[in-house]
Amino acid sequence: MEKLQNDLLLRAARGEQTERIPVWMMRQAGRILPEYRAVREKAGSFIQLATNPELAAEVTIQPVDILGVDAAIIFSDILVIPEAMGLPYIMEERVGPIFPNIIQSMADVEKLRIADPEHDLKYVLDAIKIVKKELSGRVPLIGFAGAPFTLLCYMIEGRGSKTFSKAKKALYTDPVLSHALLQKITDSTILYLKAQIAAGANLVQIFDSWAGILSPEQYRIYSLPYITQICDAITEVPVTVFAKGAFFAREEMGKLNCEVIGLDWNMDVAESRKLIGGNKTLQGNLDPCVLYGSFDEIRNQTKIMIDAFGKQRYIANLGHGVYPDTNPDNVRCFIDAVKEFGSR
Ligand code: CP3
Repeated sequence: MEKLQNDLLLRAARGEQTERIPVWMMRQAGRILPEYRAVREKAGSFIQLATNPELAAEVTIQPVDILGVDAAIIFSDILVIPEAMGLPYIMEERVGPIFPNIIQSMADVEKLRIADPEHDLKYVLDAIKIVKKELSGRVPLIGFAGAPFTLLCYMIEGRGSKTFSKAKKALYTDPVLSHALLQKITDSTILYLKAQIAAGANLVQIFDSWAGILSPEQYRIYSLPYITQICDAITEVPVTVFAKGAFFAREEMGKLNCEVIGLDWNMDVAESRKLIGGNKTLQGNLDPCVLYGSFDEIRNQTKIMIDAFGKQRYIANLGHGVYPDTNPDNVRCFIDAVKEFGSR
């Protein structure tokens, strides 16, 4: 078995004792670092960067070297799964992702393929292999995928939205189509995560970024059953489920077959521990906007967070991805504060 020099993240995920709280940041690969922007410039576009294994590996490792985080997360996007299923996306500067074709009918769902990761997503798997080689065991590598519901949002809406009302409309007006689509995404995602693990990912995280737009009832029907399938299928490495805004589903999340639950900053820590139970590691949940504050404020807020979570069964992180205009020095202040206050 692979020997990692720093396996804090994996031990914390499995509920083993750690001498220090591990720390990483969602969306740490890219955006905030000038070193990232230089590589992205060289690649040409986001998609050219993400599909170039050497360059994707380079920006994956940057935060480990520059920020001192305890894990790398593979540089890619959740939208590579719709693409591998036959629904390509483009990344519009200052707009975000756009799908030129969207899912409108059962015939559209039937036309979608189950992703074949070794073929359609080989560039991600190649990037993972390069990262593993270049990290040579310094820190673990996190693989990831979008939750089926969050991917359905983009595949029906065609682009980002505050409400995803078009996608939500489908849940109410066409449950048969919705479930058929969710199942195809789920089948693709399981194959994809297993391929990432075979290529070297040490833990995988499921991002349900739009969980919070659903009612508790709809969440139980349209998201949790599919996340459950994924958690049950992934037995090789620890699994983290991060469902942004799903405060109403914390008790059920405690019953998922996964090791780690991610919290956003709206979720009270003590209440979350109680609802989720002692058998899960918690991850989160600093408001990314704290990183706009002074060093004193960042240290202060980080200390408050750590005091609330405690030092075991805990992975320090933000409550969502780091914002692109965050000063890397402030990020380093956060990482260093966790290392200082989070030691036993
Ligand atoms: O975490 C990491 O550092 C790894 C890389 C990563 C990216 N996207 C790279 C990226 C990860 C884990 C994601 C996940 C992702 N992508 C999510 C779930 C997490 C979350 O933030 O809720 C979602 C919803 C997407 C879809 C997506 N990709 C959007 C809405 C956008 C545009 C807005 C934005 O966040 O920048 C992207 C583009 C994207 N994905 C960029 C990066 C570095 C920016 C593209 C660029 O470099 O111009």
